[in-house]
Amino acid sequence: MSRSLEAAGIVACALIAGVLAIAPIAAAPKKATAHKLNIGRAATPAEIAGWDIDIRPDGHGLPVGKGTVKDGEKLYMLRCAACHGEFGESAGRWPMISGGAGTLASHDPVKSVGSYWPYASTVMDYIRRTMPFGDAQSLTNDELYAVTAYVFYLNDVIKTEDFELNERNFGTIKLPNESNFFDDDREKTERAFWRRNPCMTNCAPGEAKVTGRARALDVTPETSKNPKVE
Ligand code: HEC
Repeated sequence: MSRSLEAAGIVACALIAGVLAIAPIAAAPKKATAHKLNIGRAATPAEIAGWDIDIRPDGHGLPVGKGTVKDGEKLYMLRCAACHGEFGESAGRWPMISGGAGTLASHDPVKSVGSYWPYASTVMDYIRRTMPFGDAQSLTNDELYAVTAYVFYLNDVIKTEDFELNERNFGTIKLPNESNFFDDDREKTERAFWRRNPCMTNCAPGEAKVTGRARALDVTPETSKNPKVE
């Protein structure tokens, strides 16, 4: 091994050691943990908590908080309406976040929170990590619940302005299109189309016949006829 390759090997080991130092795994090889890069430091619990903000459909990760549709409306007007429109219908070319009910199977499907999105948690998670656009993650947990409740209200998912959304009743909110999202079931539903041993050679009976040629059909552009490209 040349000296430089050897050096590269040591750096690679050191890098692995660095990673392992942050996220130790049970079966870590002894040699790798022996070398530390001595750069960086382990993330603090607070830093990890800052990144660990996903909310799952089963409610895992919901923050503790509460907010009514009414509270959300005020906040929405201040922080969201300029882009998404007072009723979620969109202002200018910003995305709409309401409407489009019943259009998914039409020629021009309109996908909004109400017409398309699968889970209430997807909406809350999205707003929590990204909105207001340009000022992401500036909402408190109570504000997040309130404004999300208002977005549900705009989509007729929550019906009354006094409704208070919180981490305890969040699981009761169902979006209209949820049932159209399901696990990939092709292994069952398309089983009939699958063959155990797909044919890869001589699959059609008899000799293969050439029935036409691209040149004869005149689909191959001739260089002399091509328009000039400057
Ligand atoms: C400055 C303009 C702006 C503001 C203010 C804003 N948004 Fe958005 N919003 C966007 C843009 C742009 C997207 C699309 C981002 C993308 O697709 O990457 C978006 C996407 C969304 C979506 C997903 C829409 C979809 O179906 O894809 C939701 C829900 C949403 N915003 C909610 C909110 C809420 C709630 C607020 C207020 C707290 C807010 N937004 C404030 C610009 C804005």
